Amino acid sequence: MAVERTPEPTPEPFVVHIVPMRRRHVRGVLRIEQQVYPRPWTMSLFLSELALRSSRAYFVARIGRDVVGYGGLMMSADDGHVTTLAVDPRWKRHQIGTRLLLVLAREAITREARSLTLEVRLSNRPAQELYRRFGFAPVGVRKNYYAETNEDALVMWAHEAQRAEYTDLFARIERQIEGETVVEEPRRW
Ligand SMILES: CC(C)(COP(=O)(O)OP(=O)(O)OC[C@H]1O[C@@H](n2cnc3c(N)ncnc32)[C@H](O)[C@@H]1OP(=O)(O)O)[C@@H](O)C(=O)NCCC(=O)NCCS
Repeated sequence: MAVERTPEPTPEPFVVHIVPMRRRHVRGVLRIEQQVYPRPWTMSLFLSELALRSSRAYFVARIGRDVVGYGGLMMSADDGHVTTLAVDPRWKRHQIGTRLLLVLAREAITREARSLTLEVRLSNRPAQELYRRFGFAPVGVRKNYYAETNEDALVMWAHEAQRAEYTDLFARIERQIEGETVVEEPRRW
């Protein structure tokens, strides 16, 4: 006898907006920050980062009016340093982290970064896998970098970021993203 199956619900299509982080987003950012990090950044820390416009670039991912993720970049000399990246736990695995990292990496390259770097908890395999896809390779360990949890950091680098092959990698990653992404460029004056 044939068993009748209820069809899987099709997820609603959604549009992800990636926009420069503004003061009005910080409350939504903190809601995520407090859920995902053991020592969350404070409102004043985010605001002081936003004030450093020449060396920093922060973006949020929005779906509708909700902030569902965010990430930041610090330029120092020739390097672009990813300072933070987080996604609302309810929206994980919807390529929000990928979309944000694409924008951060492209922003670093526009700002003439020769390399990209970041620290990630040694235990944080999901994030390491995401970074590996973006060409980051582990180069060392910073002992007790996350003092609050007594954890070491894995230091990852992506070198020669200005190579055409690196830009091609982003295009390949972008093609695999499902659904629509709308990116608002930061003001450059
Ligand atoms: C890490 C984080 C930003 C990933 O965000 P996300 O939007 O869920 O990631 P994506 O959907 O773009 O995933 C991209 C790839 O990363 C890897 N990945 C992401 N989450 C994963 C998980 N839980 N387990 C295994 N791999 C994972 C996969 O390779 C994934 O590709 P796939 O879904 O095609 O297999 C998110 O899990 C997060 O906010 N974690 C808490 C904060 C954090 O750890 N930030 C990084 C600090 S350095």
